[in-house]
Amino acid sequence: ALSQSIERVDALQWPLVFPTERPRRLRRSSAIRSLVRETSLAPSDFVLPLFFNEVLDEARPVSTMPGVSQLPVAAAADQARLARSLGLGGIILFGLPRTKDASGSSAYDPNGPVPRAVAAMKDAVPDLLVITDVCVDEYTDHGHCGILRPGPRGHLEVDNDATLEVLAKTAVVHAAAGADIVAPSDMMDGRVDALRRALDGTGHESTAILSYAVKYASSFYGPFREAADCAPKFGDRAGYQMDPANTREALREARLDEEEGADLLMVKPALPYLDVIAKVRAASPLPLGAYNVSGEYAMIKAASAAGMIDEKRAVLELLTSIRRAGADFILTYHAVDAARWLG
Ligand code: PBG
Repeated sequence: ALSQSIERVDALQWPLVFPTERPRRLRRSSAIRSLVRETSLAPSDFVLPLFFNEVLDEARPVSTMPGVSQLPVAAAADQARLARSLGLGGIILFGLPRTKDASGSSAYDPNGPVPRAVAAMKDAVPDLLVITDVCVDEYTDHGHCGILRPGPRGHLEVDNDATLEVLAKTAVVHAAAGADIVAPSDMMDGRVDALRRALDGTGHESTAILSYAVKYASSFYGPFREAADCAPKFGDRAGYQMDPANTREALREARLDEEEGADLLMVKPALPYLDVIAKVRAASPLPLGAYNVSGEYAMIKAASAAGMIDEKRAVLELLTSIRRAGADFILTYHAVDAARWLG
């Protein structure tokens, strides 16, 4: 019966159809594919995250993120020159301080690892775009992104309004050190407004704010917590970071940060939230970044080390997808490799 039906297909007048629309014409050669490509990827789209650890004399590899190391502040100038030579869009700095306390006060130490690394980078390459992450989780002994206080039933919770002052001091110290952009990643309400007023009130009206406007409480930050030594000692961040199930809330966060004076917005993580990137892109005229976070990076590294995936093709495809979803720029640990692959 089976061979009978094949014979009946053979007996039809082939070709049965003569397509009038032939999209394959535009895929025939690499030349035509590059002419009609809708999304571009360039080294200037990438922002490289760097971790400066105050107590280190030499780089310390991060076991959860192959290819990433915590760096001594003395390495900052070389990193700036590397970023410049690759044509990266910029770098974003995280700090690991010598001392931590309950209120994260080392976050606004003018001699802390971030202000010192910013100054060294700006001395070495004055026109390199330098962004700083503004958050206290790397500086608090409990690892939360704010100051704690007992809630109504005695358990500790993050005190939104008390945290704003620490964040604002941190942003001003980073701006004074020479940061072009400060990037609050704490998810406190009103932080963009607080940072803008503090920067303006201290003569830093030209320092831009890149808000981690839409930041989810994500499992994909796992590997970063070793890189930045900032795992919460108890509980989790669901009381301030967003529920992965929500998108209307993402639009609300983006609107609020725009109204509070953010210059650029960010969605984080990137890959599980491409739909959110597309929606924020449509809702706001501000430049939009996406953070291709540590867990996304670690998955690619693990799969390619196991021979399961072609790292270069996978990375360039993922970065292209994030741009296609609507991100203007991408914070990514793949920045150096991807810039080299793009030539
Ligand atoms: C908070 C901060 C985090 C990341 C960037 N800024 C950690 C967190 O919110 O738990 C994660 C970045 C990554 O996973 O690559 N300072």
